[in-house]
Amino acid sequence: MLPQETIRRKRSGEPLSREEIARFVAGVTDGSVSEGQVAAFAMAVWFNGMARDETVALTLAMRDSGDVLDWSHIDRPIADKHSTGGVGDNVSLVLAPIAAACGLAVPMISGRGLGHTGGTLDKLESIPGYTIMPSADLFRRTVKDIGCAIIGQTTALAPADKRIYAIRDVTATVDSVPLITASILSKKLAAGLQSLVLDVKVGNGAFMTEISEAETLARSLVEVANGAGVKTSALITDMNQPLADAAGNAVEIANCIAFLKSEKTGTRLERIVLAFAAEMLVLSGLEKDATAAEAKAAQALASGAAAETFGRMVHALGGPADLMEKAGAYLQPAPVILAVTASKAGYLVSCDTRGVGLAVIELGGGRSRPDDAIDHRVGFDRLLPLGTKVEKGGEIGRVHAANAADAARASARLAEIYRIAPETPSPAPDILTRISG
Ligand code: URA
Repeated sequence: MLPQETIRRKRSGEPLSREEIARFVAGVTDGSVSEGQVAAFAMAVWFNGMARDETVALTLAMRDSGDVLDWSHIDRPIADKHSTGGVGDNVSLVLAPIAAACGLAVPMISGRGLGHTGGTLDKLESIPGYTIMPSADLFRRTVKDIGCAIIGQTTALAPADKRIYAIRDVTATVDSVPLITASILSKKLAAGLQSLVLDVKVGNGAFMTEISEAETLARSLVEVANGAGVKTSALITDMNQPLADAAGNAVEIANCIAFLKSEKTGTRLERIVLAFAAEMLVLSGLEKDATAAEAKAAQALASGAAAETFGRMVHALGGPADLMEKAGAYLQPAPVILAVTASKAGYLVSCDTRGVGLAVIELGGGRSRPDDAIDHRVGFDRLLPLGTKVEKGGEIGRVHAANAADAARASARLAEIYRIAPETPSPAPDILTRISG
């Protein structure tokens, strides 16, 4: 079928067959479908949506547009987690080594910052020598020998998604549930996973601000991934404040190292990470129930096994051998570090989380254009969680900036981002709901 016929049928609300979707995607990959036709197709899907079997067909066709990794040489369960993106979202960095230390193999293909959200790859590039694009052989060896490797998407994995995503990005067609579903899952399925846990974030620092939207996306992801043969569940988690107490790149790596060394116990980050680790262990069949699985993950953290795994992964992928012992010697500090103080006494009751992410970008820690270079040194740390009581003039966080003017601007911004009120807020649950297949 001609691409324009497929577009016409989708535009008119007619169901597309598996074969015609596969043919359209093959044309996207080999270039015979033009940029205008991809844009028109995406817009037709944006308006008319896709039935579940159409979304499964699109996902599988996009997966098959490139290589599908084969892990048959590894006898551990192959598992991963994916987040829809947040601020101070350190979960992947610490979860992969915890899961690996518990016996899973985690080939984690991560992304760069998107919009106001941070990107795992940008954070990892704060570590001198760490390569996010290792050879296929090094990637495979690292996953086999150490249990996890966090790397970037190669051109060989789901190339159709790369082209479609770039066109969606500039044609106002990113926010379509079937297109997001196929985009995320085509890459995850190409990574050759057996099970997948999704962190669908909701709140003022997430792409989905309403729980109903987050549930719709989570259901679509879970149903399509299970339909494609990967055991998948989703946790919808709160993103109405930064997840870690740091937001940026090097500051989040420092936070991750401190976390893995058990210096961040009792935090929201710890509760969420352990819940995801438990979900991964149960879904993959390594543990029978969530309580035992969470205890196993907590033990991997407390014993230092997860910290050791992270350190070995960093070294295997080109970073220093002693990062865990001497992080301060490797993570470049910002020239100016400034405390941000409370303008009055009271409780921290709310936070404009998206504003925190945008402030990181303004400091130079994120991008306004895809080819922008970023300053890994900048960001915020020591951010207090909502509900904390503060005194007038007390510290609510710190700015890391390239110069004094940027520091002053970001400090004033952060002071406005947090609302202080006399009454303590009612605590929000960390995990709002679980969606299983
Ligand atoms: N992340 C992706 O990889 N794709 C989308 O469409 C949205 C978020």
